[in-house]
Amino acid sequence: MRALAVFPSSREIRLIDHPEPVVQRPTDVKLRILEAGVCGTDREITSFEYGMPPADSAYLIIGHEALGEVIEVGGDVTAVAPGDLAVLTVRRPCPHERCTPCRHSRQDFCITGDFTERGIKGIHGYMTEFVVEDEQYVVKVPRELRDVAVLIEPLTVAEKAAEQVRVLTQRLPGDLKNDPSNLNAVVLGAGPIGLLGAMKLLRGGFNTWVYSMDKPGSPNVRVVEDIGAQFISAAEHPPTDLAKIVGNISLMYEATGIATVFFGALSVLGVNGVFISTGVPAMGEPVEIDARRIMRNAVLDNHVICGTVNAGRASFEEAVDDLGWFMRTFPAAVRALITSRSTLDDAREAVLTPGGVKSVITIG
Ligand code: BGC
Ligand code: ZN
Repeated sequence: MRALAVFPSSREIRLIDHPEPVVQRPTDVKLRILEAGVCGTDREITSFEYGMPPADSAYLIIGHEALGEVIEVGGDVTAVAPGDLAVLTVRRPCPHERCTPCRHSRQDFCITGDFTERGIKGIHGYMTEFVVEDEQYVVKVPRELRDVAVLIEPLTVAEKAAEQVRVLTQRLPGDLKNDPSNLNAVVLGAGPIGLLGAMKLLRGGFNTWVYSMDKPGSPNVRVVEDIGAQFISAAEHPPTDLAKIVGNISLMYEATGIATVFFGALSVLGVNGVFISTGVPAMGEPVEIDARRIMRNAVLDNHVICGTVNAGRASFEEAVDDLGWFMRTFPAAVRALITSRSTLDDAREAVLTPGGVKSVITIG
């Protein structure tokens, strides 16, 4: 079968022929991959800055955002049946007994670092024609989400963030919703992670602002407006202006991966605020930040700063539900997130050329 692979040692990226996987165990599910999404992580892997092939392979098949159709199941599989649409989770547990998170199917909190991630670290990914996976990593998707279900994996970033926010706001007496001034949320960044996060915040009843470098009239800003969020231009305002524009900000959702945006925005987070960070910055020289102000406010305003990576199965299930709601509420905006579709023949170029909101590779 065909697949897009990176060869780190020779710094090549090309279509390869790879053996088609087969159902071996009673809990295996075989899927025909219909679509795979391209994200920043794929671009880092194809710049040879990140990612790792399986131990016994010179190459890594990339792709970790996939929609497939189930075509064959092992004898014990109950979660899905042939003909079902499904998405796949990304991270697989480490082998160590002492890793309580992995032993409890929460490898997104793995403590040893020996987890693997399909298409990223140590196991092949989904930018290929067929995948076999254990049913515990396969999540069924309703037919009506066929066109947009490839967005489920990026949406799980917001779902895990929401799970963290639920835990972190338990420290406050009462419900955030009792006080409307507590319901101001700012999303930093208007890429797919930011925009899907904004949709999730709107469903949660937040007054939602999206702060980004994108220009008015761009596809990203049009999505912001179409879903009923408010746009704040980063070209016109430094992040330290955010509180002047919004008022008390109780939640920030960082999706730019830019350190100066992170710390600038953090310096104006509101009272009892929660700052959730999802973007991974490139390494480089130290940057200047207003460290005293940030530290002072963190203490005097009871701030919580929470990083989040990867997502558990429950977040995938919640993403299926939320994507359904998004499609009932603002279908055109959800569809507008997918700004290009290419074939596997053109996948290499699609991965290497950033642009638009979300690029998708159509495979099956
Ligand atoms: C993926 C996550 C993964 C992370 C770090 C992201 O692009 O969505 O599943 O844990 O990269 O490798
Ligand atoms: Zn990704």
